[in-house]
Amino acid sequence: MKVNVPYINLPMQWKAEREFLLPIIEEVMSSGDFIGGARVEDFELSVSALCETDFCVALNSGTDALVTGLVAMGIGRGDEVITPPNSFVASTAAISHIGAVPVFVDVVSDQSIDASKIEAAITKKTKAIMPVHLTGRMAQMDTIMEIADHFKIGVIEDSAQSIGSKFNTKSSGSIGQVGCFSTHPLKNLNACGDGGFLITNNRDIADRVRSLRNHGLLDRNTVKEFGYVSRMDALQASILTYRLNKLESVTLKRQHNASLYDELLDREYCFIPEPDSKIFNTYHTYVIQVSNRDGLKRYLTERGIGTAIHYPIPIHLQPAAKNLGYKLGDFPVTESQAGNILTLPIHQFLKDSDIEAVASTVNKFFREAE
Ligand SMILES: Cc1ncc(COP(=O)(O)O)c(C=O)c1O
Repeated sequence: MKVNVPYINLPMQWKAEREFLLPIIEEVMSSGDFIGGARVEDFELSVSALCETDFCVALNSGTDALVTGLVAMGIGRGDEVITPPNSFVASTAAISHIGAVPVFVDVVSDQSIDASKIEAAITKKTKAIMPVHLTGRMAQMDTIMEIADHFKIGVIEDSAQSIGSKFNTKSSGSIGQVGCFSTHPLKNLNACGDGGFLITNNRDIADRVRSLRNHGLLDRNTVKEFGYVSRMDALQASILTYRLNKLESVTLKRQHNASLYDELLDREYCFIPEPDSKIFNTYHTYVIQVSNRDGLKRYLTERGIGTAIHYPIPIHLQPAAKNLGYKLGDFPVTESQAGNILTLPIHQFLKDSDIEAVASTVNKFFREAE
């Protein structure tokens, strides 16, 4: 039976928002103000208020937030940064781009970095830990901050997938020195193109990233250091400010969808991490861990159900990571998850009947196989 549940539905988002966004787009286009300016500053202020941080710097991607954040924390050539190998490639790429060395630590069953293994990876060269709050579920930030404070190293949170998530009431990205976010079209808070931002309570870091995003200019004619072109467009900032006001309802809907899946999916076949009372999860993705993942993916595709794999090849096994010297077997949990994780559709435009159809199709696949 054909079910037809798309993994993501951006045309539906446009349909729902068209009448509100068209006047906003018209206003920006008529102003001729396209890069930076008041609309970007308004967005930054709204983010700071939401995340309860002193500063937000809007950028043109989550990757640039990680790169400029690392630079502004004083991290550079030869320094080591501890991070998990199961993230989107951008986390590790950002560390490599600035000449620093990614040092991987395996993950636990909920896919976040194994905090109990971090200490063993710390050397004299370690300058920071970069936890990744994959799927919207935050890493164990209390333990991570304790370790970082003890060894006097920094923490840069890769919060790209976790806008609005919380750990013990503190917002994702606001616990370490720096939090980095993406507003890529597939994120919970999404732009109509690339975008991102960084949050911090440290004025020096915020000022440096503000300068770095604009060629390292101090004023119109003075370049303090060679920087990047990573400014947010006014159009994206205006769209994001509009969508930020809707974020709470997006989060609630995703949490509702997740709890329906939790209830309906047969745990005999699907491993789903138990909720953690310390974590407010915003469910950027809903990931199940199953045997015969590829067979299940094919079965769902044939029935019109869109799924994804985040991510099928761990970063330490990517050709680009060859010079880091890792090999198959180094991170058994990450490697085994790469073979059995499957991301089900969870976006805010799904109806309960869609979730029910996906869950019953997943259960059916396994029951038929018995
Ligand atoms: C965990 C993680 N880190 C970093 C990024 C990079 O963000 P962007 O695509 O905006 O550069 C992403 C986005 O896909 C991500 O999911």
